[in-house]
Amino acid sequence: MRTNILITGASSGLGAEMARQFAAKGHHLALTARRLERLEALREEILAAHPDIEVVVYQLDVNDHDQVFATVTQAIGDLGGLDRVIVNAGLGKGGRIGTGKFHANKETAETNFIAAMAQCEAAMEHFYERKAGHLVVISSVSAMRGMPSSMAAYAATKAGIAHLAEGIRMDLVGRSGLDITVTTIYPGYIASEMNEKVEQEQKLMVDTETGVRAMVKAIDKEVDNAAVPAWPWLPLGQVLKHAPRGIARKLI
Ligand SMILES: NC(=O)c1ccc[n+]([C@@H]2O[C@H](COP(=O)([O-])OP(=O)(O)OC[C@H]3O[C@@H](n4cnc5c(N)ncnc54)[C@H](OP(=O)(O)O)[C@@H]3O)[C@@H](O)[C@H]2O)c1
Repeated sequence: MRTNILITGASSGLGAEMARQFAAKGHHLALTARRLERLEALREEILAAHPDIEVVVYQLDVNDHDQVFATVTQAIGDLGGLDRVIVNAGLGKGGRIGTGKFHANKETAETNFIAAMAQCEAAMEHFYERKAGHLVVISSVSAMRGMPSSMAAYAATKAGIAHLAEGIRMDLVGRSGLDITVTTIYPGYIASEMNEKVEQEQKLMVDTETGVRAMVKAIDKEVDNAAVPAWPWLPLGQVLKHAPRGIARKLI
């Protein structure tokens, strides 16, 4: 069966690698990001390896909410519907609250939460209409606990979209005739442009291909929630969530 997947933030890191791995499984792709030339190069690379699939690319700044709706509508038209939407676009700018970094924190909050909500809205409108679909949101293990310093706003946005996804799942309870699922992915440290300069994370970091393989496996299973890679992030996430604050602070 033909499966059409839209991925936001597909110009680098996890989004680009998800595109490669889903293409290798024969899925058709709609890829979005601001850097159109990156998307075009990725489309060429993917089509050279998998000439039988369809790949469409769209320049999209997810903070332009009207454009989010227009792009999702265009992808639905171009591919003949969407089976899965992966809300992946995000950024990790920020500074400790109270140190004058409001604008960086605000940019992260707008991109990772408000714009993600626009993407969820556009995807769910389509899924409700066709009574089927799979919404995937890319949260983070940092959503497990309030995080200090430059991670504070970022972690709050990632907790926010995880709760948003659970809210959407709540809406689906008891509604018969709908084949709609919602998956929240909580990645640990996976190599990407976002974290290539962050030294303290290197010990637990996995390469992009390995990390994304774990993401793709969990997405294809359509589980509600998955910390990836499961080792060490599933237990570590629980420790972060429940440990006394002083201990959790030492872990971060
Ligand atoms: N890597 C990790 O260890 C890790 C861990 C937990 C969660 N995550 C999450 O995984 C997702 C992907 O991040 P990544 O690690 O792959 O980082 P990345 O390599 O920096 O990729 C971020 C992607 O988001 C896009 N993006 C950022 N702002 C955007 C905007 N305003 N409009 C449209 N697209 C935008 C970027 O595309 P353009 O710049 O071309 O627009 C890029 O494709 C993020 O949500 C991140 O929070 C990553």
